[in-house]
Amino acid sequence: MNRILVVGSGGREDALGWALARAGAQQLWFYPGNAGTLRWGTNISRYGMPAGKSSEKEEVEAIVKWAQAHGIDLVVVGPEAYLAAGLADRMRAAGIPVFGPGVAGARIEASKAWAKEFMARHGIPTAPHVTFTQAEAGAARRYVEQSGRPLVIKADGLAAGKGVRVTASRQEALEALEALLVEGTLGEAGRTVVIEERMEGREVSLLAITDGEALLVLPEAQDHKRVGEGDTGPNTGGMGAYSPVPFFNKEVREEAIRRILLPAVQGLAGEGIDYRGVLYAGLMLTGDGPKVVEFNCRFGDPETQVILPRLSVDWPSLLGAAAQGRLGEYLRELSSTGATACADATAASVANAATAESPAAATGGTVLRARSTFSQVWELRPTTGAALGVVLASRGYPGKYETGFPISGLDVVAALPGIEVFHAGTRVDPSRPGEVLTAGGRVLNVVGLGDTLSEARSRAYEGAAAIRFDNVYYRRDIGHQALEESRDQ
Ligand code: AMP
Ligand code: GLY
Repeated sequence: MNRILVVGSGGREDALGWALARAGAQQLWFYPGNAGTLRWGTNISRYGMPAGKSSEKEEVEAIVKWAQAHGIDLVVVGPEAYLAAGLADRMRAAGIPVFGPGVAGARIEASKAWAKEFMARHGIPTAPHVTFTQAEAGAARRYVEQSGRPLVIKADGLAAGKGVRVTASRQEALEALEALLVEGTLGEAGRTVVIEERMEGREVSLLAITDGEALLVLPEAQDHKRVGEGDTGPNTGGMGAYSPVPFFNKEVREEAIRRILLPAVQGLAGEGIDYRGVLYAGLMLTGDGPKVVEFNCRFGDPETQVILPRLSVDWPSLLGAAAQGRLGEYLRELSSTGATACADATAASVANAATAESPAAATGGTVLRARSTFSQVWELRPTTGAALGVVLASRGYPGKYETGFPISGLDVVAALPGIEVFHAGTRVDPSRPGEVLTAGGRVLNVVGLGDTLSEARSRAYEGAAAIRFDNVYYRRDIGHQALEESRDQ
């Protein structure tokens, strides 16, 4: 895997570039990338596309043509929108390996109604739900009026984090329904709604790399989605994250692998869906064990920025193996050389237990791959104890904000040990190359690394304090849930 194209322009893609480059990837391109990704490779944009704003479909065609013309041998897709628009299918049809599922697999994120039905088919724990289309708006209202429980109203389609209302009253639930089904505030994405019961608990993101057969479970992370300190205020794309999550102990992790990740990968394969990429489970740790809040079909942002720096692995080979459907083979080789990673024996035993216990297997409702061909669960042993990332945002985000301000202090932070800065909304100043300007709501991720979360946090905030730009805003309490109760303070 020598010539790699990373699709996307956020902190996640910059972190992927960093990880791929650190593992020795020589030739990296980013579509469209940001000022940070220029450290690892070349940014490309608007290849062969008509002037003006292009649709995702037009972009997909242009990206495929570019990759073919430039002999790309691996494409790594960050954002879900490209996967839902068919980028992976089109690349595969062109004979180019791609890390990310096709349209069929991307439905696990792109249609919440489909994802909920999928979970029901495979006995995966999640909140009970009902689905209503626009034509059923009256029935949806009656359902809410008759329900005695707190509800969550979700747009079926992709809504860039704006599609979910966790409601506290019947009135609020009715308003949310009205907005989606009648006013059409989210357009097509909200013309079908999923209404589900509200769950209580703490949230954890558990991501696994899979080729549809083998499953490599990555270290978990927690994302702080709310803009304000104490997890208050509107939802954002994520204001910070940390890994590991101390309250996600080994038992809960194994339960999540056994009851959620494994049946999901087996379920996708059993339904004939060729799923290669990341399967991201957003979990809520309820009194009844971990349950799925959502599945995503890609790496999380900002989780990736704290997960990848904890692992030392040959990322080009690993992502390439998953893209080519030989992840199990690759991981077996890796464990036999013992160089950088090892298979976790307990996880493998979890895999076997899950195959035996799977509700789908018991009812015979779904064709599972024969046990002999179903590979085991793998984990990588982290080489860095902890990582904590703080998002430096433009004041006003997730509402209106200004951009174009010069960023200073990046060189100072680059010289500090145990800190990595990943760029998100940044661009190079066209009049002064070498100067970086703010260009988005979430601007930078400052990630501290250490043996413990408290050490990682000190470094992250030391780095954040050294970076300046007008209207900078960041939360001072990233990791508070973990640090309040962990013993390493
Ligand atoms: P989603 O886009 O589905 O991840 O939802 C966004 C956020 O809404 C989640 O991170 C949760 O905090 C919250 N949420 C979604 N579904 C539920 C639920 N059934 N119960 C409680 N909170 C939920
Ligand atoms: N951090 C949440 C997401 O990537 O969807």
